[in-house]
Amino acid sequence: MVFYVLNGSPRKNHNTAKILNSAMEGIRSILPDAEFKWIHVYDYSYSGCVSCYGCKRIGGKYYGRCAKRDSISGILADISRGDGLLIGSPVFFHDIPGQLRAFLERLLYPYLVYGQEYTSIAPKRFPVAFFYTMNATEEKMKQMNYPVKLSAMEEYAGIVFSEPEIFYCFDTCQFDNYQLYKADRFSEKEKSYIKKEQFPKDCLRAAALGEKIARKAICQNPIVSGNPGRT
Ligand SMILES: Cc1cc2nc3c(=O)[nH]c(=O)nc-3n(C[C@H](O)[C@H](O)[C@H](O)COP(=O)(O)O)c2cc1C
Repeated sequence: MVFYVLNGSPRKNHNTAKILNSAMEGIRSILPDAEFKWIHVYDYSYSGCVSCYGCKRIGGKYYGRCAKRDSISGILADISRGDGLLIGSPVFFHDIPGQLRAFLERLLYPYLVYGQEYTSIAPKRFPVAFFYTMNATEEKMKQMNYPVKLSAMEEYAGIVFSEPEIFYCFDTCQFDNYQLYKADRFSEKEKSYIKKEQFPKDCLRAAALGEKIARKAICQNPIVSGNPGRT
């Protein structure tokens, strides 16, 4: 089985990537032979959807796939044939980063069918999970209504691939050394406690969700997974 791991953070080894890595290990604990393909979206140069509507043009060459040709065209096609998708996102200004949003526009829109109700013409259905990391504490993120603010892409991913699992990691350590940065609103002491005590627990939670994703993938594709519990 092939799982795509989409890192929507510009940083490759910080909170979002670590949480994704834990989720990957969770999947691996259930599916030791699973393959993981990481996509760091900031490594690529592309734009979001350009409203060419090639993907909606009846009988057109690009019906049901993104007509815009650039560095992510092949990746979009590969993801849609995978067995699962993990999406990691830091919160930027109460939303997902623009680069990730642009990627998801290109991934999701071509498969969305404008019928009376939205349906999907994606080649496969597979489990999806969104992993968010943020400065906000759990209390603050509720006050600021993040679950609603972040829900648009989740909703469309649900229509196109399958209803996503949602994971939040709060109060992340943004800087390795808070003394080097102007950041008085945060307590360095509290952040180092979080880094030492809380974040490892968050990673365990992410691993548990990874295990759940693996089980979902097995249910959706029992033959490929070789799950001995199914014939
Ligand atoms: C441009 C920018 C905007 C941010 N906006 C928010 C925000 O609105 N809410 C929040 O809780 N955290 C915000 N953060 C903090 C990051 O979401 C948080 O530190 C995240 O865990 C960083 O992920 P990373 O370690 O993978 O880079 C922002 C960070 C940056 C760089």
